[in-house]
Amino acid sequence: MIFDRIKPLDQILATAEKKGLKRQLNAFDLTMLGIGAIIGTGIFVLTSVAANKAGPGMMYSFVIAGIVCALTALIYAEIAAMVPVAGSAYTYSYAVLGELIAWMVGWALILEYAVAAGAVAVGWSGYANGFLANHGIGLPIALTAGPGDTITLPDGTTANGGFNLIACLISLLITGLLILGTSKSAKFTALLVLVKVAALTAFIVVAFPSVTHANFEPMLPNGWGTPLSGNGVLGAAASIFFAYVGFDAVSTAAEETKNPNRNVPIGLIGSLAICTVFYLLVSYAAIGTTGAQPGGVLSQSKEPLAFVLRNLGHPQLGDWVAWSAIIALPSVILMMIYGQTRILFTMSRDGLMPKIFSDIHAKFHTPHKVTLITGIAVSLFAAMFPVDALADISNSGTLFAFLVVAIGVMALRVTDPGRARPFRTPMVWVVGPLAVIGCTLLFFCLGWYTIKLFLIWAVIGLGVYFLYARSRSVLAHGERKE
Ligand code: ALA
Repeated sequence: MIFDRIKPLDQILATAEKKGLKRQLNAFDLTMLGIGAIIGTGIFVLTSVAANKAGPGMMYSFVIAGIVCALTALIYAEIAAMVPVAGSAYTYSYAVLGELIAWMVGWALILEYAVAAGAVAVGWSGYANGFLANHGIGLPIALTAGPGDTITLPDGTTANGGFNLIACLISLLITGLLILGTSKSAKFTALLVLVKVAALTAFIVVAFPSVTHANFEPMLPNGWGTPLSGNGVLGAAASIFFAYVGFDAVSTAAEETKNPNRNVPIGLIGSLAICTVFYLLVSYAAIGTTGAQPGGVLSQSKEPLAFVLRNLGHPQLGDWVAWSAIIALPSVILMMIYGQTRILFTMSRDGLMPKIFSDIHAKFHTPHKVTLITGIAVSLFAAMFPVDALADISNSGTLFAFLVVAIGVMALRVTDPGRARPFRTPMVWVVGPLAVIGCTLLFFCLGWYTIKLFLIWAVIGLGVYFLYARSRSVLAHGERKE
């Protein structure tokens, strides 16, 4: 049987108990952690990508993606409070759906985390390159974007990129910090959250009075979009979904949380709710002041929020928002690379990935080898690909993982109804199926190119599992290595 290997929940919980991470985070810390991981390239950069796909109708895209994430957060909260251990969707799936599915989820999470880190690095480079150019020290165009990216020059002409140098460098820099042991510090995270929230608030306050109704016409220039087209409101929703990704980072800190049963659900749902409100206000203000027609000025900008403010006659505030992005976005890259290394680390401990992935540096006490390998991969993604392609690929992996978690939570209600559930997803038989439908819908609205890449990645994953991982799994040998 290929679905027979399940890592018992009690065994997972016992491991966490033994490791004994200090429980010190409270609900406020977790909410900050969530906002810290959520607000990033999505709102600061992909707003222009969404405009290009949906026009002003991207407001609906934000709502649709937000609803799908809210449904998923309700589901995540149940399993995260029940199994408050690191490893996120991979660990949950191992306990509920068995090794093969867990492997596929872990494999998909490589897309979620590593590719997302690349996407955020490219998004960051848009603001950093803009800043350098505004101060007369801009890099040559060929070094500001990957080969597949087209840049609109100030005179309206376009040029192709070659190698996104600073997106590559920031990824390597953060990899270095992670190897040295920089991790998510709750206080530092809270500070960066303040910077981001202040920038978005200033944006909203300044832009709102200039909103004009005419900028919302026509509302749906590309219609609602059809599956596989990657266009229209639904195509933009599938891309802008990236802006909400990260709330699941809260669940990875469950082992370090005081009273996780209460605080994890608050952190997950609270951070998502706050970000959703900001996103809707920011996108409304951006559309209403600048217009958002496909091919228009907003849709062409690599630093859309700063662009909107400069366009409204507030160059200094525009620079300040750009600065906020430059200061705060690297922490999102850090969290993504961190999340990736910890998942690979856990998979390695389970025997499914090479042993060197769980080697720990003698002095820094960090998994330096897996961090270095991950960091090099991220820096190459960042150097070579455009932000929208990376975000879409990352979304495909995330949507798959969310889908499996939703199925897993419902399955566990049936197979293990007696287990204590400190947080119960309300109306799970409504929320669960809706989350599955929502994730499936967004997945198929991603555009055929992305879906094809995901399928190729999945087939490679299956090959690696059966040819490599399955026979090496710790569970295959009946050992209980913790
Ligand atoms: N939600 C994160 C971002 O938008 C990944 O950058």
